[in-house]
Amino acid sequence: MNPCDVIMKKRLGQELNREEIHAFVRGACDGSFADYQLSAMLMAICIRGMSDRETVELTMEMADSGERLDLGEIDGPTVDKHSTGGVGDTTTLIVAPLCAACGAKVAKMSGRGLGFTGGTLDKLESIPGVRVDLSARAFIDQVNAIGLAVIGQTGELAPADKKLYALRDVTATVDSLPLVTSSILSKKIAAGCQSVVLDVKAGSGAIMPTLEKSVELAETMVRIGRGTGRRFSALVTDMDQPLGLYVGNALEVREAIEVLSGRAGGALLDVSLQLGAQMLRSCRLADSADEAMAMLRAALEDGRGLAKLADMIEAQGGERRVAYEPDRLPQAEGRIDIAAEKSGYVHAIVTSDIGYAAQALGAGREKADDVIDPAAGIIMKKRLGEFVEKGEAWCELHVGARADVAAAKKRLAGALTLSDEPMAQAKPLVYRAID
Ligand code: URA
Ligand code: CA
Repeated sequence: MNPCDVIMKKRLGQELNREEIHAFVRGACDGSFADYQLSAMLMAICIRGMSDRETVELTMEMADSGERLDLGEIDGPTVDKHSTGGVGDTTTLIVAPLCAACGAKVAKMSGRGLGFTGGTLDKLESIPGVRVDLSARAFIDQVNAIGLAVIGQTGELAPADKKLYALRDVTATVDSLPLVTSSILSKKIAAGCQSVVLDVKAGSGAIMPTLEKSVELAETMVRIGRGTGRRFSALVTDMDQPLGLYVGNALEVREAIEVLSGRAGGALLDVSLQLGAQMLRSCRLADSADEAMAMLRAALEDGRGLAKLADMIEAQGGERRVAYEPDRLPQAEGRIDIAAEKSGYVHAIVTSDIGYAAQALGAGREKADDVIDPAAGIIMKKRLGEFVEKGEAWCELHVGARADVAAAKKRLAGALTLSDEPMAQAKPLVYRAID
């Protein structure tokens, strides 16, 4: 099949048939579509869109572009979650242990930080000794033994997505409904869990530009998910500010430990509980949101959730006492307060700028081979709606030798909008649940 013909057909807004979609996905893997042809095709899809039938076929072709993990040997209901990417968004490290404590088998493959968003693998690797490169065998055995494992992709799961995602990142074609949907669902299908809860972010730190688009993405993923033989459900959650107060790898592990220890709460805990409730319902361990919430709260309060995190740290090569003594996590030498230039109520936060500032300090990568400073990051001192005095610190930078403090400060300079008027009302944390 001539790549040019397929590109032209989509360029004209026509529906591609199965063979054409297959040729495109195979072309991403074997080079029979050159990078410029793949890029042109991505742009055509981005502008012309795809029907549900095309999106389902694209998803399944991508899921079948590599290996598929068979989790049939796991004894019990397997469940996974996936976030479209956030800042200070360490829900996985809270909700995976809590759900495991409630009887779910949490077999999760996570990613690394991308752009301004954090990645669970980088967070886990900030814990001394912890490894995320388990084999499929070790992954399944660990889930059977302790109820959870969070690792990087084994082998070649959805290699077409890897190729296409890298091109999308540099061709302004990330925020397309069929492309995001097929990217996320194909990886989740290849990773093998029976049920998957999607956390679709909305706000100034989300991949989709508006709440309406985020809701549309969540609805599209759940609708397309129906055609794939797995149970997909979604929550649309707020990313108009970092979810937790800590942004950075070891910092976010610390905040997860504080939450699981009952010493911290707030939005991070609330969203984690709502995601967890959806996960327990999705894998049929609870019949209602209230029942699920009660199960999760019990596991939080009696310390079973924290013990599960300790079990996972130990199983993956770290020391379990880190979960009880978070001072053992790497800590930055330097602390720099960022002071407000005037007084006012915080009306808006550019979440992506907080993420980029943390990246400049070393918490994330600008290029794929950059080395992360596990201790680097930012502690937020103010949330939306709160009052900040002129000269008062609204956040604190945690800096090591490699930090580009000037770049971080530049990002933060415009990240806050202050107003003399109090904010009308707090925004919801969860805008929509779709199942
Ligand atoms: N996360 C993914 O894995 N893929 C996308 O397309 C967007 C977010
Ligand atoms: Ca029940």
